Amino acid sequence: MRIYLCLLLSCLATVASANEEAMARFNYLMGDEGRRQQAFEAGRERALFCSYCHGETGNSRRPHIPNLAGQNPVYLFSAFEKFASGERTDFVMSKLAANLTQEDRVNIAVYFSQQPVNKVVLSVDEDLRRRGAALFRNTCTGCHGQQALGMENTPRLAGQPEEYLNKALTRFRENDPSRAGSVMMSIASLLSKEDIKAVSAYLSRLQPSSSEEQANLARLGRVAAQ
Ligand code: HEC
Ligand code: HEC
Repeated sequence: MRIYLCLLLSCLATVASANEEAMARFNYLMGDEGRRQQAFEAGRERALFCSYCHGETGNSRRPHIPNLAGQNPVYLFSAFEKFASGERTDFVMSKLAANLTQEDRVNIAVYFSQQPVNKVVLSVDEDLRRRGAALFRNTCTGCHGQQALGMENTPRLAGQPEEYLNKALTRFRENDPSRAGSVMMSIASLLSKEDIKAVSAYLSRLQPSSSEEQANLARLGRVAAQ
């Protein structure tokens, strides 16, 4: 328990260090329906290029690429910051992030955060899924939320492609430098390969009810305005 409390605190510390200028911009945009709509439209235009991999509505087109739909805008924005600063690396994303202006990054984050996540209909080994559900409940909900919808500084995991989840967790577990410094390193080091398989099977099929999804989209629309 104590270890998770410490991790939680280090997680909160990153909230405080989130780019203040960008946060001010989010507040400004999200506080007004008209401005938010403008940011959404501008984001949609800038996101055209992203759709090749992440899908037009941020529902990924490939199993190793994450969804951006329904993701907290502040998380999306800070993921860009990490690619741009080199704290997180990916061949394509690192170059892309460095080439987008801050305004683009904010608008794109607003656009994707407001998209619903498509339902996943792939069949699954029930025992494995159940094991993953128990693991998630016991270890992960404090930071990622009961329904894995994420929080301001943690990503949504519900409905992410299974292969992406598997890959991300394996990289954390193996201390891969592409995500160096992430709070997830020490958490994933406690997981076995089988745990990772189970929790990925569970999360990729996790579908919050449509009323929960609607409430989440509404919450994301307000998130920065609070
Ligand atoms: C050629 C394919 C490709 C294109 C085009 C692309 N991405 Fe990505 N994106 C990826 C991959 C692959 C990852 C996962 C990287 C990793 O594993 O760390 C990723 C990760 C991300 C993440 C982190 C998501 C998370 O869950 O942590 C964000 C945010 C993101 N992309 C935004 C964008 C935006 C915005 C654009 C358009 C400007 C874009 N991407 C264009 C392939 C692409
Ligand atoms: C102390 C808080 C905390 C706990 C507990 C936690 N996470 Fe995380 N998790 C985070 C943060 C913060 C990130 C974003 C890290 C980054 O950007 O490097 C993250 C990222 C992730 C990612 C990458 C998602 C993406 O879109 O790239 C996965 C997968 C993940 N967590 C799964 C889990 C699982 C499974 C558990 C439980 C075994 C768990 N997390 C427990 C804070 C936490």
